[in-house]
Amino acid sequence: MNLQFTEEQEMMRKMVRDFAEREVAPAVERMEREDRFSTELIEKMGELGLMGVPIPEQYGGAGMDFTSYIIAIHELSRVSGSVGVILSVHTSVGTNPILYFGTEEQKKTYIPKLASGEYIGAFALTEPGAGSDAGGLRTRAKKDGDYYVLNGSKVFITNGTDANTFIVFARTDPEAGSKGISAFIVERGTPGFEVGKKEKKMGMHGSGTVQLNFDQCRIPESQLLGEEGEGFKIAMANLDVGRIGIAAQSLGILEAAVEQSVAYAKEREQFGKPIAQQQGVSFKLADMATSLEASKLLTYHAASLRSMGIACGKEASMAKRYASSAAMEASIEAVQIHGGYGYTEDYDVERLFRDAKVCEIYEGTNEIQRMVISKHLLAK
Ligand code: CAA
Repeated sequence: MNLQFTEEQEMMRKMVRDFAEREVAPAVERMEREDRFSTELIEKMGELGLMGVPIPEQYGGAGMDFTSYIIAIHELSRVSGSVGVILSVHTSVGTNPILYFGTEEQKKTYIPKLASGEYIGAFALTEPGAGSDAGGLRTRAKKDGDYYVLNGSKVFITNGTDANTFIVFARTDPEAGSKGISAFIVERGTPGFEVGKKEKKMGMHGSGTVQLNFDQCRIPESQLLGEEGEGFKIAMANLDVGRIGIAAQSLGILEAAVEQSVAYAKEREQFGKPIAQQQGVSFKLADMATSLEASKLLTYHAASLRSMGIACGKEASMAKRYASSAAMEASIEAVQIHGGYGYTEDYDVERLFRDAKVCEIYEGTNEIQRMVISKHLLAK
């Protein structure tokens, strides 16, 4: 088992780290202050090919392997979790459903624009009454001639402030449970489709999270993604992979927490010596670094399975569950190590602390990940 990146993957890592430190880091403070998606950064990411890393070249992507894509999210999130989640949602659940379930026409229409960053993608599954129980969603899509008419609302839609295309899940058969759900590609600006209230969140201030409303929104049947009734499986199959992206995002936040804590502990002196030499602090650092290593192994293992085309739903959920909790725990410790300074905006660790929390919640809470993992175990 080779745990080293290939030469190409290592080049990717260096390129993204350089971009993140040079271009993303100076934008973080503004994203925090203005709580706004940075379109300038997304344009630059598009120019570098980062908006379509694992998308085949024939559809305008970089045609790289899945692990390279995960490296990109990891490195971006080390500097900004918001930029990491923008990329993860855009690719894993905003673009991939079209790549894997779309018609050739849909692929040609949307994927080159998404892969270049001209379009931003979003994924609209969650509703006010259907979060963890995604199969209970109520947004209705009623067939009317060559059209579907959508009515209902969605909440917590990442990238929604700026997205051009939304993969929307709606009920085409009210009697058929999760088999009565279908997926649609809905373009921003479609009459009857309104991007609603923007959420004021605890963290992830650079990523725009909104509500969506559909009121007699008519979309041509050509916007149906996959078969009627296949929507829930499309959502689950893409979340299986998407969760590796959230693991990578957690990994970036966790790595930043470790690096910043080590640097601070070596510099900050109390009782006549650096606090890193106090065992209470050095043991915290050791535990944080160990959970970083374990998170890396789980995340890149899931990514390498995906790169090889091997089913990895269980491994993705394990990586997401473990790495997100490790990021949360490490960012709590990072604030503790920084003491009073860690509780101020003068140090980055308070942002890491706020950003880490949502990694335990979105793309399936960690309780849902445990359900997925145990289902895999018990199915044998
Ligand atoms: N791949 C393909 N098909 C799948 C699947 C998968 N991973 N998981 C389930 N299915 C299929 C099942 O096989 C079943 O079909 P059959 O009856 O034909 O076998 C059907 O779907 C229903 O399966 P379940 O009975 O297991 O479904 P359930 O209702 O018990 O729900 C769940 C399972 C895992 C809890 C699911 O509802 C779930 O993942 N919930 C969490 C939702 C979630 O992750 N939301 C994230 C929103 S997006 C987001 O957060 C993005 C962001 O902003 C960052």
